[in-house]
Amino acid sequence: MTTDEEQRKHVQAGSFGVAADAYERGRPPYPEEAVAWLVPDHATTVVDLGAGTGKLTRALRAPGRTVLAVEPSAGMREQFSQVLPDVPVMEGTGESIPLPDSSVDSLVCAQAWHWVDPELAVPEVARVLRPGGRLGLVWNLRDVSVPWVAELDGILRDYAAAPTEDRQVEQVGTPFGPVERRDFRWSHPMTPRDVMDMVASRSYVITLDAASREELLLRVRKLLDTERPTAMPYSTECYRAELGQL
Ligand SMILES: C[S@@+](CC[C@H](N)C(=O)[O-])C[C@H]1O[C@@H](n2cnc3c(N)ncnc32)[C@H](O)[C@@H]1O
Repeated sequence: MTTDEEQRKHVQAGSFGVAADAYERGRPPYPEEAVAWLVPDHATTVVDLGAGTGKLTRALRAPGRTVLAVEPSAGMREQFSQVLPDVPVMEGTGESIPLPDSSVDSLVCAQAWHWVDPELAVPEVARVLRPGGRLGLVWNLRDVSVPWVAELDGILRDYAAAPTEDRQVEQVGTPFGPVERRDFRWSHPMTPRDVMDMVASRSYVITLDAASREELLLRVRKLLDTERPTAMPYSTECYRAELGQL
């Protein structure tokens, strides 16, 4: 990665808090079957890393289970606490998790693993997981096989340095075992307003200059006026790997 790319990634990673409200309205939840595949039934302590406004956290809660959230952005943590006041949300990152060694059964990172430095985050996640604990990674991806969704993505790519989320997770590496993958296809009911919020909450849109941002949003609005969507088709891409017994 060049210095410019690194700088842009850093600015984008820190930009989420600015649009936490639009983020909360515009981003989709995670399907239950995907969460059940990512987190073992017996997990009693589960961490949501890069929890944002708690979109995944809501689906992680289960009777008899303690759920903890870790999130670097103050704006996101504020929104999180409004939505989930009973779930502790701590300041931290994948590279520095504010939890003791061997203290959690499962750690899930939704739509955020591409922001972490895996060289630091893999050993850090391994530190907080108990032996045999599970790391789960998940991304909700729009299904671009649907024409209007492909058109929307084309607009985003025209304006923004829309990062192709770097999901190089075919192997997480030592001390984790092999990575398993499964995709879940589903559709999320969304109004055109929800889609506008989803676009406005993207880090690469937030950090555009004002004129380009306005132009982009105008083009998206025109597409939505024509298409009048009622749902967004998604493919939820999931990965899981277990920590070797130490
Ligand atoms: C696209 S949002 C995903 C939020 C939430 N997990 C969800 O699924 O809606 C990415 C999140 O990663 C967080 N983030 C950025 N850099 C991070 C890092 N190094 N470690 C952990 N989280 C990070 C951002 O603050 C943001 O809340």
